[in-house]
Amino acid sequence: MGRGFFVSLEGIDGAGKTTHMGSLRALLQGEGLEVVAVREPGGTRVSERIREVLLDSRNQGMSARAEAFLYAAARAQLVDEVIAPALARGCAVTADRYLDSTLAYQGYGRGLDLVFLTQLNRLAAQNTLPDLTIVLDVPAEVALARRAEASLDRLEQEGVVFLERVRQGYLELSRQNPQRMVVVDAARCVEEVGREIAAIVRARLQVRGHGTH
Ligand SMILES: Nc1ncnc2c1ncn2[C@@H]1O[C@H](COP(=O)(O)OP(=O)(O)OP(=O)(O)O)[C@@H](O)[C@H]1O
Ligand SMILES: [Mg+2]
Repeated sequence: MGRGFFVSLEGIDGAGKTTHMGSLRALLQGEGLEVVAVREPGGTRVSERIREVLLDSRNQGMSARAEAFLYAAARAQLVDEVIAPALARGCAVTADRYLDSTLAYQGYGRGLDLVFLTQLNRLAAQNTLPDLTIVLDVPAEVALARRAEASLDRLEQEGVVFLERVRQGYLELSRQNPQRMVVVDAARCVEEVGREIAAIVRARLQVRGHGTH
């Protein structure tokens, strides 16, 4: 069976990634694909345990390097246990965050060396790269306002300046990878953003010969 279709959703906290995962699944199923949905960090038993450590507000003392290794470890488990086997079976895989989150948050956000992080990503993902990455782009103030009522976990306490650096990182990564990454203006209403995501995904599937309409 041929390789499946791998799409990741990226963007700062509150951009709308999780909001759009459900309609993305429905769209891909409508195109006749079996869908496996994952979220990062997490998606396997081991990776969810690592996620708990990463998001625990008691772990304020975690170094940026240690954090990067934990994300990479969670991702390696997810790739080996879920993503690579699903793609080998010909499934569509949807990821709520993937490789680019490491570069945007640890690299552009925290200032870790981008060469180190790119190497780490390569080791964690091996050859399992997304066919398509949709970057939901929204100003940090808008994203934070959407999340205002929710309780803030460790990563979210860092505020608007940090998230704006992360946002600019995503835009720079998109300029560097124009064939894989597509930026969508996610400050618009959910319906409009969803329509644009659907159009982009359909166009990609058609190029790959998956699409039926
Ligand atoms: N286009 C939109 N307009 C207004 N509100 C939105 C829009 N998209 C999402 N929201 C709302 O914003 C909040 C955050 O959305 P969501 O949880 O999907 O973001 P996320 O990108 O998954 O964030 P995180 O990285 O923190 O998981 C939710 O309450 C959601 O309903
Ligand atoms: Mg989310």
